[in-house]
Amino acid sequence: MMKQNTPLLFKNILIFIIFFLSSCVKEKEIKGAVVSAREEASKIGVAIMQKGGTAFDAMIATDLALTVCYPNAGNISGGGFLVYRTFDGEVGSLDFREKAPMASYPDMYLDELGNVIPKMSTLGGLSVGVPGTVAGLVEIHKRFGTLEWDELVQPAIDLARNGYIVTDNQEKSFKNKKEEFIALNGVETFYAQNFKSGDNIINLALAETLERIAKFGKAGFYKGVNADELVKRVKETGGIITHEDLLAYDPVWREPINFQYKDLNIYTMGPPSSGGICLGQIMKMIEPYEIGQYSQNTIEAIQIIVEAERRSYADRSLYLGDPDFINIPEDSLLNENYLKKRMSSFDFNEATKSSEISPGTIVWEESEETTHYSILDAQGNAVAVTTTLNGSYGSKVFVEKGGYFLNNEMDDFSSKPGVPNMFGLIGGKANAIAAQKRMLSAMTPTIVERNGKLAMIVGTPGGSTIITSVLQTILNVFEYEMDIQTAVSAPRFHHQWLPDVVVFEPSRFQKSFIDSLQEKGFNIKEEYTRIIGRVDAIHISSSNIITTGADPRGDDKAVHLY
Ligand code: GLY
Repeated sequence: MMKQNTPLLFKNILIFIIFFLSSCVKEKEIKGAVVSAREEASKIGVAIMQKGGTAFDAMIATDLALTVCYPNAGNISGGGFLVYRTFDGEVGSLDFREKAPMASYPDMYLDELGNVIPKMSTLGGLSVGVPGTVAGLVEIHKRFGTLEWDELVQPAIDLARNGYIVTDNQEKSFKNKKEEFIALNGVETFYAQNFKSGDNIINLALAETLERIAKFGKAGFYKGVNADELVKRVKETGGIITHEDLLAYDPVWREPINFQYKDLNIYTMGPPSSGGICLGQIMKMIEPYEIGQYSQNTIEAIQIIVEAERRSYADRSLYLGDPDFINIPEDSLLNENYLKKRMSSFDFNEATKSSEISPGTIVWEESEETTHYSILDAQGNAVAVTTTLNGSYGSKVFVEKGGYFLNNEMDDFSSKPGVPNMFGLIGGKANAIAAQKRMLSAMTPTIVERNGKLAMIVGTPGGSTIITSVLQTILNVFEYEMDIQTAVSAPRFHHQWLPDVVVFEPSRFQKSFIDSLQEKGFNIKEEYTRIIGRVDAIHISSSNIITTGADPRGDDKAVHLY
């Protein structure tokens, strides 16, 4: 009889026990998530849900945290849009977009010859729209908040007091903008301090502003010390916002845009964002082509998408603006027959020239920087929020005593028909400047239902590229069956009618592929222009498995609730 080798026996027993235990431990189930541009903000949102808050409570805390640790786009001094779906299927949207100050007028950025004065709508006080963010958050709290308001503001106050860590991307970004910060705010300005990656930034002025917001709610921003400082700073830098403008600001609950794409039911932001209508138009134009029969990012798939985008962005230029000022023929723009007709000139053999495409004729009835986060709570409430200062650090005007940058959202108006804005977008009368009007946006916070169930929460920054990045992410998941992280990370391209170019993410598409598209008449631009979005998304499978996608193009991070 062989003698037992005692150490070997023990080893085998140990291996068996480990194997047995590990097979018993199930992977932890994700019950909710926050996916945002910064880990700190995502963590703060999840902590609020762990305290018993809903996705709406988490939204408020996440948004304010982004103001602190993502100052290029996170804001209390810009505006944005919320699209939500509650656990029991109620859907809605809140518009807290900035407005033109009361003293605004159509030609305010033109010289005496009628030419657009460069940078006037992008840099300095005159580019600032009346901020909507704080009013928006307070409104959301009024309708949906379950935790106390000050409890939701406190984590951002703590973050501003204790500091946030500078990332490599942020170090580069501060360095790039330093000259502009100094030109507008002087050499002593807070964000011209040469912050390096790994530094801890403590922003006491912002902590104090947030404390006022925690204590007084909307009045903490739109009245008193903060209002005085904001109006003073805008005036010092050539702007026209008054106390009266601040007092007059109110957000608006609006019906979201709703359309069907195959078995998907999509809710997204309506005007004053162009996002929802354009996304709907593009998807409805694509639908008859059964794009899933072509693999993702093949010549045929890209042709269909680009040609649909070309036609939709042309319509955008003529028909879209603030619905409180103009009549927008929403139903006609999303009408299937109209959209089929729009695509009738599409030919797989040759690119359509943008010069040959005008905004469509429809039955007219009288009638860089931005940030997005997606939140899902354990009950199933879903929140998609895109918020913005417009350009990176907005107008670059820093309210030193308040600790924050002001937006330059006025550039989203059409300063002059036919003259492109900073995203190259052309606009017309519908988006002309008027006192108290909201400027047209491309922000597209979106919620997707499949077979009546919540299936995706998605959105992105990226100016004019927002719509096309959201589109590609939805197609990647539902047509190409990618998991959500792969869908978010996948190479992207963008087209917007004018200029007549298709922008491809550099080095992510093969040269032979680009050459083939060029042969068909597409003008291709591969150089780095503006970011092609930073998509933050949550996917809920038909069997309720929750997965997240945080865009690797930025410092974006998904934090899960277990
Ligand atoms: N400022 C970018 C947008 O609203 O689309």
